[in-house]
Amino acid sequence: MKTLVTGAKGMLGLEVCRVLSSSSEVFPVDIEEMDIKNRAQVHQTMATIKPDLVIHLAAMTDVDGCEQKPKQAMAINIEGTKNVATEAAKLKAQFIYISTSDIFDGRKKTPYNEDDKPNPINHYGRSKYQGERQVTGIIPEPYIIRTCWLFGGGPQDKKFVAKILKLAQTKNIISAVNDVFGSPTYTRDLAEGIKKVIETNPPGLYHLANQGICSRYEMTRKILEYARIDSCEVQAVSAADYTTMAPRPAMAAVKSKYINVSNVIPPWEEALKVYLTEVKK
Ligand SMILES: NC(=O)c1ccc[n+]([C@@H]2O[C@H](COP(=O)([O-])OP(=O)(O)OC[C@H]3O[C@@H](n4cnc5c(N)ncnc54)[C@H](OP(=O)(O)O)[C@@H]3O)[C@@H](O)[C@H]2O)c1
Repeated sequence: MKTLVTGAKGMLGLEVCRVLSSSSEVFPVDIEEMDIKNRAQVHQTMATIKPDLVIHLAAMTDVDGCEQKPKQAMAINIEGTKNVATEAAKLKAQFIYISTSDIFDGRKKTPYNEDDKPNPINHYGRSKYQGERQVTGIIPEPYIIRTCWLFGGGPQDKKFVAKILKLAQTKNIISAVNDVFGSPTYTRDLAEGIKKVIETNPPGLYHLANQGICSRYEMTRKILEYARIDSCEVQAVSAADYTTMAPRPAMAAVKSKYINVSNVIPPWEEALKVYLTEVKK
């Protein structure tokens, strides 16, 4: 069994490659080996490897960056995904696409499930939703797994946890929004969860995240607590007073109608504590 992982050097890619290497021969590729925008390079790489399974993680994931450079976001997240899916279809490879809860508008008051209707409010969300549509149009029976607010990766982490740890080195007060909610998800748990989903569930659309939901404010407090940083206070602010380049859905948490996550991945606080204990070692 040969598994090709795109975006393999990213925070989720590292864990996916590690987890899947126990059950298959993993071929990790990132932009240096296979720029997904480059159709000829995608063809050449995939036709040489001939994978049985493709886990497509490569994406432009900087949400504000996508808002500033929407054409680049579309080229990578839509056209790039089309290129990878097209080659996978020719090889009849099983296909897994990792998507995001940013495809929802966030107006719902409770976590989104697989039946909820996408309505993205930023360019990242639009490009990932169009990426999903490319996949379902090209691959007969893909897995599409939507997740939320990833943390992990240690030095590879460019996201929220890394930003808070960095801010805490220089600030006494950190502001965090208390009216934007999500499901923080540890890349290690998600990688294990993806493996379990494909081993035990038929192809389809699944929502997968660590259990539970919190605001960025609550998450920031837990980051500082578990990282044992007591030199810094957390100030709750409203998203209305905290301008970002891209609007964020006020509700980004996900839950699944089909997967009992308590059998698959633990609550987010537990996962965050494990991660920060390891990072601090
Ligand atoms: N992070 C989250 O909170 C989150 C939440 C929901 C879903 N997801 C999805 O999960 C997947 C993995 O996310 P992640 O957090 O691991 O992202 P990441 O750390 O940014 O990893 C993505 C990888 O793709 C690479 N890449 C970018 N453009 C490429 C191109 N044209 N060709 C080939 N590779 C390219 C990136 O390289 P560079 O670093 O050099 O750009 C990076 O190594 C993504 O599809 C993302 O949309 C992420």
